[in-house]
Amino acid sequence: MQHIISAKQFNKEWLERLYALAKDSEGLNASYIGGRIMITLFYEASTRTRILFEAAMLRLGGRVISTENAGEFSSAIKGESIEDTMRVLSGGAADVIVFRHPEEGSAERAAAASDVPVINAGDGIGEHPTQALLDMYTLKKELGRTDNLHVCVAGDLLNGRTVHSLIELLPLGENVSISLASPEVLALPDKYRDKLVEKDVLGDETFCLEDALRLKPDVLYMTRVQKERMGSQALYDEVKDAFVFDEAMLSLLGSGTRIMHPLPRVNEIDPKVDSDPRATYIRQAHNGLPVRIALLRMLLTSGK
Ligand code: NCD
Repeated sequence: MQHIISAKQFNKEWLERLYALAKDSEGLNASYIGGRIMITLFYEASTRTRILFEAAMLRLGGRVISTENAGEFSSAIKGESIEDTMRVLSGGAADVIVFRHPEEGSAERAAAASDVPVINAGDGIGEHPTQALLDMYTLKKELGRTDNLHVCVAGDLLNGRTVHSLIELLPLGENVSISLASPEVLALPDKYRDKLVEKDVLGDETFCLEDALRLKPDVLYMTRVQKERMGSQALYDEVKDAFVFDEAMLSLLGSGTRIMHPLPRVNEIDPKVDSDPRATYIRQAHNGLPVRIALLRMLLTSGK
């Protein structure tokens, strides 16, 4: 596999390989990738994804060139195309490029112009495949399975790219059902919903968080309302607090339920929930490191 662009690329077998390699990468500090260079080319804000990719490369003994805010200080501001940037950076400077950009489909364009592997770290409202991989690894670690699962994805299903990737991977498990819970204006686009129907994994659909909790999912996957992708402040204000999980709602969940969130969280989970053992999001974020180490090992060392 040359590039990592979409969750559609993966099958069950490949995921099992990734889980094994991620497990092996927990706490790893080794020189597998001496001297190789990773460029993180980020045209959009990031904390976790960029830093964990960089930490992963450094843990492997590699080196990093980082361009946070690429849209503001790189040649993009002068009008350079994604293709020209990639042609230049992949011609000797980088061995792998981690790419985030506000336009859906941009990662695919970047990969097509690159001579080295490109990893999609988020293409607008499109996908965020490496987040979905760490989400799946989290399920495997926390619950010991990715089969026989009822997952409720909740929040901004319209713009939330982590959900768009996750719902590609979840149906690779057996007997999986995916329920959808969002404010009406942030419902999952038909192109994704139709696929869930096709794969026969679509569960309940609701515009009310409490109703979703009463379905007693095994996993509640909360997401942030993507303010930066909303048409207007007025629309954001209207929906921003529609889906807030608070302490009182814990009683509606089963005792073994996992509450996940890709982070950053704004208002949608009250910090009082954090001390409950079902709150999984910080452990989930920590899984981002071994999964990214595993991905770099796969791409740069043929899985060593
Ligand atoms: C997500 C993203 O960038 O899509 N963040 C992340 O990488 N964990 C989620 C978000 O920004 O809401």
